[in-house]
Order: sequence, then C-alpha cells, then structure tokens
Amino acid sequence: PNYDELAPRPEVFDFNGVTMINAFTDNWENVQNFQARPDDIVVATYPKAGTTWVSCILDLLYFGQTHPERQTSIPIYLRVPFLEMALYSSEINFVGVDIVNKLDTSPRLIKTHFPVQFLPKSFWENNCRIVYVARNAKDNMVSYFHFDRMNAAQPAAGEWKDFFQRFLDGKMVFGSWYDHVNGWWQKKKTYPNLHYMFFEDLAENTDLEITKLCSFLGLSVSPEIRQHITGEVQFDNMKNNSMANYSTLGHGIMDFNTSPFMRKGKVGDWKNHFTVAQNEKFDEDYQQKMKDHTLQFRSLL
Ligand code: A3P
Repeated sequence: PNYDELAPRPEVFDFNGVTMINAFTDNWENVQNFQARPDDIVVATYPKAGTTWVSCILDLLYFGQTHPERQTSIPIYLRVPFLEMALYSSEINFVGVDIVNKLDTSPRLIKTHFPVQFLPKSFWENNCRIVYVARNAKDNMVSYFHFDRMNAAQPAAGEWKDFFQRFLDGKMVFGSWYDHVNGWWQKKKTYPNLHYMFFEDLAENTDLEITKLCSFLGLSVSPEIRQHITGEVQFDNMKNNSMANYSTLGHGIMDFNTSPFMRKGKVGDWKNHFTVAQNEKFDEDYQQKMKDHTLQFRSLL
C-alpha cells in the first residue's frame, strides 16, 4: 500500500484462513520465492511478543564486537528487516525482501510475523536457524492494543472491549495468537533448528536466555560480553536508544504521543486492562483453545 493514501486505516481481510492487511500480502510472490541462505537467522514472532528485544540481542551477538557502529547508526528495522513488509510512499519505500537482499552481513538476520505455514519454503530447505519468541496471551493482547492505537499502518484499535473480543476471535493482523504460538510449537517436533523462547523468561533472566540462545546458535560468547549485551538490551536502554525504539521511523506512521513503541516492557500489565469479567471469559476460552496442545505458558497469577 501507499502510505500517502493510508488514511483511513487499512482494512483486514481473510488470506488463506489468516486475517491480514495488504502491507503483508502485496509482495506475496516475491516473499514466497525468497531465496534463503543456510546461515540466515530468522526471528519469528506473533506481533508484540518481543521481536525487537530478541532482534537487538541477535544483532549484538553477531555484530556487537565486529561492527559496533551498527548499534548506534542503523535502526533495528534495517539491521533485522521485516521480510513480508511492503509499504510505499513518496518519502520511503519499505520492501522487506529488497532490504534483506541488499544486506551485506553474514549471517543475515530476518524478522517475520508469519504463522508457520506462511514461512517461505527456502528457509526450511536450507535448514535455517529460527528463533521463535512467544509472549503470554494477555500481555501480548494489551501490547497489541496499544500498538494498533499508535500505528497508522495497522487497523484501528477501537475500543478495548471490542479489541479484546477480536483477539479471542483470532481476527488480529497475522491471525489468531492461539494458532500462531501453537503452530510454531508444533513445528519444533519435526524441525530441530527451531529455538522456542518466552518473553517472560527473558524478562526474568536475560543472561540465562542469552546463554541458551548462544548454545542453540553455536556461538561461544564470554560471560563479560554476555553481561554487556544483557545491559544493552535492558528496557530503559532500548527505550532511550533511537536505533532500537523506532523513533527514527517518522513519516507519520507511528504516533509516539499516543503510545511509545517501547511502552512498558512489563510482565503482567494485562492486570491494568482486563476487567474481572473479561479475565474469567478469557480464561475459560483459553482453556478450550489450548486444551489439545502441549504448549504451556507460565501462570501469571
Ligand atoms: P509493551 O507494549 O508491553 O511495553 P515487538 O518488538 O514484538 O513489537 O514487541 C514490543 C513489546 O516488547 C512492547 O511491549 C515493548 O515494550 C517490549 N519490549 C521491547 N524491548 C524490550 C526490552 N528490552 N525489555 C522488555 N520489554 C521490551
């Protein structure tokens, strides 16, 4: 879509059973035909699950020592491009595939929000390493709500109570949270090069999660460097870092006065949004939707 014509907000539609908007389907053929390299690293998430956080960690792990200038001069959305994104305006064209194809780093770090069945097949064929980040549904929903309020490229958030119902109905952009987290979890069984991590674990012990990530990636990183990275990616540091906080993405897309991209970075903020009745309804519905799956999130009581 063309940003200059983006008001009003984009319409959602059903795309192969998944709710989507044009920005993520316009370039479908090119995205599906994307040629992966065996050393490409994919960071896959449902929107608002901690994509930027893990993207920054990956970038620091791979390039923090060799290309420290990256962290202070290149926005995270160009260091770890969003594969399926296709936006055009008079000021900026943002076509994820083209940006990835111009990367001169090795490995290439690539972001996607696709549900597992949409990932271009070349990644599977090349046995690429994939890092999936999941966040508990309630906080993920709250974070998505504030994101849709501030991001003109997304459908309008509307009222919280309606957004809440749409989330339960799986009508968010990139589809149902439930399908997304379970679909990727299921894939782990047949695809060992998938590392599944949780926002809540990262919040509790960043250093430990980085250690596990390094082991998955086959990286040996000294405790000093690991601690340095842990410090760099603390919420306040990322919030204040213009190369991580999306503040460089002007162009009338994100309205930071409505809600900043780095909003709260907390586990449990859902308690400030869910009514008691919504919480009961949510829990009952959640049990139904998750009962046939082995994936477990930690209890947030
Ligand atoms: P909140 O809206 O709850 O604050 P994504 O990068 O997938 O869009 O996810 C954004 C969410 O991750 C936001 O959640 C943001 O604040 C949070 N986040 C980003 N970096 C973080 C960090 N370093 N520590 C904690 N939370 C972080």
